[in-house]
Amino acid sequence: MPPLKLIWSLLFFLCFNTFLYAQKKPALTKNEDRVEALLAKMTLEEKVGQLNQYTGERLATGPVTVNSTKYADIKEGKVGSMLNVRGAKDTRDVQKIAMQSRLKIPLLFSLDVIHGYRVTFPIPLAEASSWDLKAIEQSARVAATEAAASGIHWTFAPMVDISRDPRWGRVMEGAGEDTYLGSLIARARVRGFQGKGLGNLDAVMACAKHFAAYGAAIAGRDYNTVDMSDRLLWEVYLPPFKAAADEGVATFMNSFNDLNGIPATGNRYLQRDILKGKWNYPGFVVSDWGSIREMIPHGFAKDNKEAALLAITAGSDMDMESHSYIENLVQLVKEQKVPLNLVDDAVRRILLKKFELGLFEDPYRFSNEAREKKILNSDENRKAALEVAEKSIVLLKNQNQLLPLSKDLKTIAVIGPLAKSNNDMKGFWSVTWDNDKLVSLYEGLQNKVGKNTQLLYAEGCGISDTSKAGFAAAIEAAKKADIVVMAVGETFDMSGEGKSRTSIGIPGIQEDLIKAVKATGKPVVVLIMAGRPLIFNWTADHADAILYTWWLGSEAGNAMSSVLYGDYNPAGKLPISFPRSVGQIPIYYSAKNTGRPSLNEHDIAYRSTYIDMPNSPRYAFGYGLSYTSFSLSDLVLNKSKIGDGENLTVSCTLKNTGNYAGEEVVQLYIQDIFASVTRPVKELKDFQKVMLKPGESKTLSFIVDKEKLSFYNQQMKWGTEPGAFKIMIGDSSDHIILKGDFELVY
Ligand code: GLC
Repeated sequence: MPPLKLIWSLLFFLCFNTFLYAQKKPALTKNEDRVEALLAKMTLEEKVGQLNQYTGERLATGPVTVNSTKYADIKEGKVGSMLNVRGAKDTRDVQKIAMQSRLKIPLLFSLDVIHGYRVTFPIPLAEASSWDLKAIEQSARVAATEAAASGIHWTFAPMVDISRDPRWGRVMEGAGEDTYLGSLIARARVRGFQGKGLGNLDAVMACAKHFAAYGAAIAGRDYNTVDMSDRLLWEVYLPPFKAAADEGVATFMNSFNDLNGIPATGNRYLQRDILKGKWNYPGFVVSDWGSIREMIPHGFAKDNKEAALLAITAGSDMDMESHSYIENLVQLVKEQKVPLNLVDDAVRRILLKKFELGLFEDPYRFSNEAREKKILNSDENRKAALEVAEKSIVLLKNQNQLLPLSKDLKTIAVIGPLAKSNNDMKGFWSVTWDNDKLVSLYEGLQNKVGKNTQLLYAEGCGISDTSKAGFAAAIEAAKKADIVVMAVGETFDMSGEGKSRTSIGIPGIQEDLIKAVKATGKPVVVLIMAGRPLIFNWTADHADAILYTWWLGSEAGNAMSSVLYGDYNPAGKLPISFPRSVGQIPIYYSAKNTGRPSLNEHDIAYRSTYIDMPNSPRYAFGYGLSYTSFSLSDLVLNKSKIGDGENLTVSCTLKNTGNYAGEEVVQLYIQDIFASVTRPVKELKDFQKVMLKPGESKTLSFIVDKEKLSFYNQQMKWGTEPGAFKIMIGDSSDHIILKGDFELVY
């Protein structure tokens, strides 16, 4: 080929490839450009400083390391974030220190705003009982608006850990046992916290935690080992994290547990292969409190320097309170044990969020005391908390329609150790305030009852003590009353982090108190308050009515009285199975059939069942009553056979057959009858929460698409397999009313 032609061809080839490359690699955004420009100015020490997070002293949420140089470190640019510093004034004061550093890189202020900031909302497991995604999003939205007005940029929520073990105290912090419901709730909470996007003054960064499978700690013992198949990990525990990532969650937090022998904090498979690789996640990962250093007692790192190396290599971008990075990373890079690009990648991820939050324009934009005063604890926020609290209450029993209470009742005895408790109503992981106003059950009743109703009160007994000294007064009060309302359960801090229990009965002698009051012959309504499912078989058998109220937050008492008097018709459904016995745990509805399923409670010979108790829970996932009643009928599948990728439309009719307007959560479950791997007997794949007036009917329609029929096959490939499926529609996982069959053919 003549030389000139060759040159032209080469030139064309070069230009074309440059054009292609430019097309493939998206142009940097303005903020990414700014990150690059800032990164180029940073020393290695300043880069490592961005990966370092310290706690404030007053609100420590983990074992505190005495750190006398904390504020000097901030001034020297050795700190990227503070947790547990809150309030417009305090955050401004600490930010001012950071602004004295050479490059004036603003700090991120973070806090566990899990279920409310100034106004406390119901604990997350209670909110999950509402099955009301808009209410759950609204709860997070109010929390974010208040926190952002108080100098907070970043909340360590939502906790999206699936859990099937109520011995684990942190079950209170999640959305229960189900992957489908948990994934939808994860999305709702991320939307609520991040609102219209980072940079808005009422938006905070959310944080999907704890990555991953922390809720599967063996024996429900917090921080314990997790060991599971890849199939279980991908099918049950990862989807809520993927949902949060798809919803745009700004950050992730890893978890304390080891997963199949490798601590999550040092787990490349989780943090690099899955999160930053397969999922192409652009945000950053913060370690859990001290979890980098804890790889030493895990027996995974010989010292803190190795822990730092393992963590940064595995993809943990920011070090919460281990001091591992700030003490070792500079040296590790200089020794060429840690490539600089790993540090740069972590710094980029963190700086990008600071730019997106607008902190470089104005580091103090969230620390405005006038705005804080205006927004926190408003009547509007308390009203929102009341509405979510009402929706979170689950009616477990209502014998002879004892509830709702009549406004004509003359005397109500309010009995039990939680009847007048204010502080317990907040639940674990609430933000502590000096002058907090949490409405007790007793106060809620006082706010509700008419002037002709007399309230009598007796504590009866303590939460955990065994003294019956108060029984006589309780019985006396019951005898004088038309009806007894009892408030029993745990204290707020008997569930939460580090609060695993081997026995999950109602503590102490509270059930003895219920028995003694019941013996008076008066009708007894029992309100059970706890952060986890409790076991209360005697009460379940003998109480006339039972409401499970969890921990309902600031407006607890007003929500409870509103439901007791029927101003709000309860519609909550359990997001987690309630065992009859600890011996049944782990217990969950989406179990496998096994080769020897027990056909009924008497079929126990050589069956996959216990000989001393049925397999069934005391109360099932999806269970909850109403003051009205509903019927479900007219199931229609638009096809009996569908091709791969074809949708199935399922419809049915819901009718309110009772005397009260009310909401029903109609649940759609699917069973894949046979497949290349065993499949659960049922899986929740859709639900609708519908309000109907008495006598009103509504036709509901559900779409079953390919995604809902997919699972991981023997080769761990996600997809469908042809064969027979069952559609089940009911008002609880253990109360299927309509059944239909269809076939997937291809
Ligand atoms: C705690 C928790 C985590 C929390 C963090 C900061 O130990 O495990 O959920 O966000 O530390 O308080």
